[in-house]
Amino acid sequence: TGQVTLDTGFVNTASCVSSITYIDGDAGILRYRGYPIEELAEKSTFLESSYLLIHGELPTTAQLEEFTDRIQHHTLLHEEMRRFFDGFPRDAHPMAVLSSAVSALSTFYQDSLNPFDTEQVEISTIRLLAKVPTIASYAYKKAIGQPMLYPDNSLGYVENFLRMTFGVPATPYELDPVQVKVLDMLLLLHADHEQNCSTSTVRLVGSSQANLFASVSAGVNALFGPLHGGANQAVLEMLQEIHTDGGDVGAFVRKVKNKEAGVRLMGFGHRVYKNYDPRAALVKKAAQDVLGRMAKPDPLLDLAMQLEEIALADDFFVSRKLYPNVDFYTGLIYKAMGFPTTMFTVLFALGRLPGWIAQWREMINDPETKIGRPRQVYTGYGARDYAPIAGR
Ligand code: CMC
Repeated sequence: TGQVTLDTGFVNTASCVSSITYIDGDAGILRYRGYPIEELAEKSTFLESSYLLIHGELPTTAQLEEFTDRIQHHTLLHEEMRRFFDGFPRDAHPMAVLSSAVSALSTFYQDSLNPFDTEQVEISTIRLLAKVPTIASYAYKKAIGQPMLYPDNSLGYVENFLRMTFGVPATPYELDPVQVKVLDMLLLLHADHEQNCSTSTVRLVGSSQANLFASVSAGVNALFGPLHGGANQAVLEMLQEIHTDGGDVGAFVRKVKNKEAGVRLMGFGHRVYKNYDPRAALVKKAAQDVLGRMAKPDPLLDLAMQLEEIALADDFFVSRKLYPNVDFYTGLIYKAMGFPTTMFTVLFALGRLPGWIAQWREMINDPETKIGRPRQVYTGYGARDYAPIAGR
């Protein structure tokens, strides 16, 4: 009731009260539960930060061991769930497969769908964190026609995911410790970002008291779009296109400035960061480290750095406060690790999972939560008389 205000895209409207993640967009600050992202990236791990986001405090050794152990022991998918993957076309986008499979979890775990039962929410949390890497690697295996590998509970979270993705039954899979460390950090950097599009979706769906799996699968679908998580795939496709066209970065930037057919510099700009994205700085450094180790340098890294340099010196981008965001350099690292472009957004989803879960749990436990139900400004016809079909 009362005055309805229009705020397309929720530029100035808060949808909730939250104590999970803090962003100061002007100062380029990001903190999980008060801890600066730079410090977590250096000292923490993805699972430890997941615990922090979900439970509010850094775990003790015993708590972290129990959390890790429980996740490790739920990595297996129900055998019948494996058959789901047979039904999708081989060229299905793995994000579409992922959201469908996450949604399907609520058919296999009907014993844990009550959003107000703490134990059920806890086991669903564990199952999601444990099974999404397995689902993600199966989506990939299906696409390339290789057998799906069962998880190996003796391996760490990222190790297990990499082995299920790149391993084959015929030969032992050799883990590269640098890859493991970098991927763990990238997942950590994606772990939460307060009320972004996918997280708001998870909360909105959850506000109707839909279960955690249903809410998270909606979040995966929201992340799929190129303006959100899909940007990491779009960045690499953009770099590849510039490369194929002869590598003229200046010509591409002119296209963007002329707003030719809506061409945007993908991986640039952010609704909240108007100075720099602190995650992008950490990712750029990692990209230089990982790609620097390669025998043959990737020409796309050079193109990306040229693009950044030109854009940061150009008034079009400066006046609009457009800086590289988290997605600008991640794709180059994923590519160097051997992931195809279609898997990039799946990696984002894997990273964002603890954030979606933490935010959903905060929402469901908040006594102030109401069903999300935005209002509108109606601009259609006033009342008019029904016209019989013969007279239209
Ligand atoms: N390239 C060229 N121009 C841009 C870009 C860009 N990447 N981003 C914004 N602009 C322009 C836009 O055209 C507009 O100009 P004008 O005032 O002349 O119309 C102005 O900057 C403001 O843009 P906006 O679309 O109103 O800004 P927004 O806050 O609604 O959008 C954004 C934020 C991230 C969707 C947008 O910057 C964008 O589309 N970036 C490219 C896609 C991308 O990299 N997304 C990843 C975001 S970060 C991680 C994540 O959430 O997944």
